[in-house]
Amino acid sequence: MNVLYASAEVSPFSSTGGLAEVAGSLTLALRSPETDVRVITPLYGFIDYAGHGLVYQFSFRYPHRSALLDVHVHSVFHNDVPHYFLQCDPWFGREQTPYLDQARDATRFILFCQLTLACAWELRQRYNWFPDVLHANDSHCALIPFLLSISRSSPDWASMRSLLTIHNLAYQGHDSGAALYYCGIPSRSQPNLVYQDLDDNLLAIGLASADVLTTVSPRYAAEIQTAEHGRGLDGLIRTRSASLHGILNGINRMHHNPETDCHLAARYNAGEFGESRLINRKALQQRQGLDCERKVPLVAMVGRLDVQKGLHLALPAMRRLLTRDELQFVSLGNGDPRFHHELSLMAGQWPERVAVRHDYDGALARQIYAGSDLFLMPSIFEPCGIGQLLAMRYGSLPLVRETGGLADTVVNYDDGRGSRGTGFVFSWSETEALTHTLEWAIRTWHNRPAAWRRMQERAMKQDFGWDKSARATKELYRNIVISEAHL
Ligand code: GLC
Repeated sequence: MNVLYASAEVSPFSSTGGLAEVAGSLTLALRSPETDVRVITPLYGFIDYAGHGLVYQFSFRYPHRSALLDVHVHSVFHNDVPHYFLQCDPWFGREQTPYLDQARDATRFILFCQLTLACAWELRQRYNWFPDVLHANDSHCALIPFLLSISRSSPDWASMRSLLTIHNLAYQGHDSGAALYYCGIPSRSQPNLVYQDLDDNLLAIGLASADVLTTVSPRYAAEIQTAEHGRGLDGLIRTRSASLHGILNGINRMHHNPETDCHLAARYNAGEFGESRLINRKALQQRQGLDCERKVPLVAMVGRLDVQKGLHLALPAMRRLLTRDELQFVSLGNGDPRFHHELSLMAGQWPERVAVRHDYDGALARQIYAGSDLFLMPSIFEPCGIGQLLAMRYGSLPLVRETGGLADTVVNYDDGRGSRGTGFVFSWSETEALTHTLEWAIRTWHNRPAAWRRMQERAMKQDFGWDKSARATKELYRNIVISEAHL
């Protein structure tokens, strides 16, 4: 089975968040003697060409409007997975960030979808390699299933199938009508698009056209079919309900392993971690200038500072508890300036109890997972989430809102002997609910150390590796290809 996996971001080449992580690690888990997965992504200007060992492969011409575009294909084997990078001046090749602005991005990514199909054709001509499945991710690549659906009238493309994965319904590429017209995309006449006025929404076009749809957790798959979380696409998604599958993301357990992680002050595993985690905690406090003597829980946040992540709930709750001197707080990540400002104020007010870093530092992130007690992730919505999985892997108990992948991966403490639970869960999107849950967690930390320890052990033993996701994804590939063979 040949699969071409298209993504606007792929770690370690280009990354602004979870999409890149998934593209970088799921593809590695998918690769097997029976599954020849190859990745296709834009060659952005900032990609370290020499550092990653990219090499030029070939060029081809693509007719676009009245001109011919020169497209250059570069490639590298990364973890045994071939990665193709498309360069096409002036659209891809010079930019310093993957995304520019809505108007230009609509055109750039529609073009990327067109070039992906064109490149597949070139791979067939040059290397006799042609995908059985095109796996597209998010709105940037969502036009691929539509373009394939119209190409299938030709026998060359008739047997190819498409899968679209939704990582985040918040980014849809709506109002792309002008860009679609500019790129010469034929009209989208599916009744469920036209009827709902969604025929210039890139993600909607993909959702209506792909043979099969996935999203990154079972709970999110259910949520996006409701008006509350569907962001205007729930009606359309309900019409595709039978083809939508929630497959939980994983983490790379080799790469994120407290037993071998060279960034930690002391290494440990789920069997033996008490002393080592204390050493990591002290090292973190020292590095961040926090008071090392106080016996209070250390609460951490790592990730983008925005409303999706529930910062507007978390910061008032933290402020309230900090006033009462009950905890220490470390935050790592950047985003909305409003939240930067509030965090900086908190750090100024309580320098020995609050440490804030407004950039991203992978080594510090691991030290935070290994040295903190509680990992705060009160997201308003969360398709899957990675932070809570990493925190559990390193023994920091997640405190999460019951939504999407957070609900699917964190089991609430049973408040008894600690015989259940891998963290703390609350439901209502209110500061009050979060504050109470934080207080409950802090009480548990103080009064029930044995139960806390059992939860840590259980959290660290959870298997959130990629194997299960890769198996389920391959099964879907097989099903769509086989169902075609029976037509
Ligand atoms: C997006 C989602 C996040 C998910 C990631 C990878 O960033 O917001 O929840 O984990 O994609 O699928």
